[in-house]
Amino acid sequence: MWFLGSESWVLGSIFYVGLLLKMDLCMGNDELFVSTNGTSGWPSSVSSMYILGDSSVDCGDNTPFYPILHQNLSLNPCNGSDQTLLPQLLAKKMGLQYVKPFYSQNGSMEDLLNGVNYGAAQATIMYPKRGSYQSLNQQLRQAFETIQLLQLQLGQDTAKSLIESSLFYLSFGKDDLINYLVDDESSTSPGYDGLRFTHILVDQMINVIQNLYDANVRKIVCMGILPLGCSPSVMSIRYNSSIGYKLGCENDVNLLVLEYNTRLEQRIVDLNIKMRGAQVIFCDTYRAMMEFIFHPQAYGFEDAKNACCGTGEYGGTKGCLSPDMACPRASTHVWWDLYNPTEAVNVLLANSAWSGDPLPSICRPITFKALESSAY
Ligand SMILES: *[C@@H]1O[C@H](CO)[C@@H](O)[C@H](O)[C@H]1NC(C)=O
Ligand SMILES: *[C@@H]1O[C@H](CO)[C@@H](O)[C@H](O)[C@H]1NC(C)=O
Ligand SMILES: *[C@@H]1O[C@H](CO)[C@@H](O)[C@H](O)[C@H]1NC(C)=O
Ligand SMILES: *[C@@H]1O[C@H](CO)[C@@H](O)[C@H](O)[C@H]1NC(C)=O
Ligand SMILES: *[C@@H]1O[C@H](CO)[C@@H](O)[C@H](O)[C@H]1NC(C)=O
Repeated sequence: MWFLGSESWVLGSIFYVGLLLKMDLCMGNDELFVSTNGTSGWPSSVSSMYILGDSSVDCGDNTPFYPILHQNLSLNPCNGSDQTLLPQLLAKKMGLQYVKPFYSQNGSMEDLLNGVNYGAAQATIMYPKRGSYQSLNQQLRQAFETIQLLQLQLGQDTAKSLIESSLFYLSFGKDDLINYLVDDESSTSPGYDGLRFTHILVDQMINVIQNLYDANVRKIVCMGILPLGCSPSVMSIRYNSSIGYKLGCENDVNLLVLEYNTRLEQRIVDLNIKMRGAQVIFCDTYRAMMEFIFHPQAYGFEDAKNACCGTGEYGGTKGCLSPDMACPRASTHVWWDLYNPTEAVNVLLANSAWSGDPLPSICRPITFKALESSAY
């Protein structure tokens, strides 16, 4: 089920027509396939990576209108380069080249074959309320247009095997929950409606996975939501000056996140049985982050509460408006900005997701490494 009808989808299409025209239509198929190798020297079982998501996959510049349409949230959810974010760190481990943002491709087939990052900071699963213009469905539409282009250029059979060996990386949900919390006047206790809302979010994600499967996608990774209840953003929203700074996390918010994560993983377990030949992985980044937040010293962190880059309570009021605002030693912080982790955390997450070290079983039922080496 898609809910379309935003002007951004029209803009996306206009962009794509331009891309088609720019594309070198005379390129031969044999020539194209050389670039789908991993750099490991062996043909990689994951030939390319297509990334859909929010600020967990994009540093804020993946839009043709950057920075005109940016809102008041963090302009710099990472320190300048999305190469420090989890999906790019994992792409590197899988021997893939840097996955270019959708709006910075030059239209070459080579770019498309390596993969595309459709992600955009602040993207939501649901139709965006606040004029945030890169929702899940917008990005999904762009991904399907890429698949169509591959079919046109390579022929059905070649495109099919390329798509089957590609990894689709999905990382959404936190902006939906943040919007929900901000909108809910009585947000002291989200309660039943909050739980129901997370169920709707999970239903949407499951629909997307099924749509991708129907388009021959066989390898899908779905990231859970981080413990937002411990994030500088939520701690700042809930800040009460007569109480002052609190220890611990906002448990009711974390309960919503857990409801989303748990339900999503359960549905994914079912999908893995139902969808023949598919490998769908759920990554429990919540559990990993809680480990870093409650045992910071064990992982080299000194501050598990305040954002490295941001202003206001817990550095979580305005977000990172410029990297100049950042703390001097970002690697000692768990949180980079409002609700995004630092590069140091992303490296630990990537290592754990890849091989289960230092944190085992973050990605289930198998690690990225097992996914990468499993023959399709
Ligand atoms: C791609 O893989 C083939 C084997 O399938 C190998 O012969 C070739 O050297 C590889 N090319 C690159 C650029 O790694
Ligand atoms: C951004 O912040 C300014 C002042 O802080 C406010 O007037 C404006 O409405 C905000 N814009 C959005 C989109 O929230
Ligand atoms: C597009 O970028 C690729 C590298 O990603 C490069 O090899 C190619 O020459 C570029 N094509 C154009 C038309 O700029
Ligand atoms: C802040 O805390 C005080 C003391 O517990 C309480 O009386 C007050 O209602 C709180 N304010 C808000 C806005 O929650
Ligand atoms: C941000 O990245 C720049 C360039 O790599 C680096 O010089 C700077 O130290 C980084 N800042 C933080 C806070 O990590």
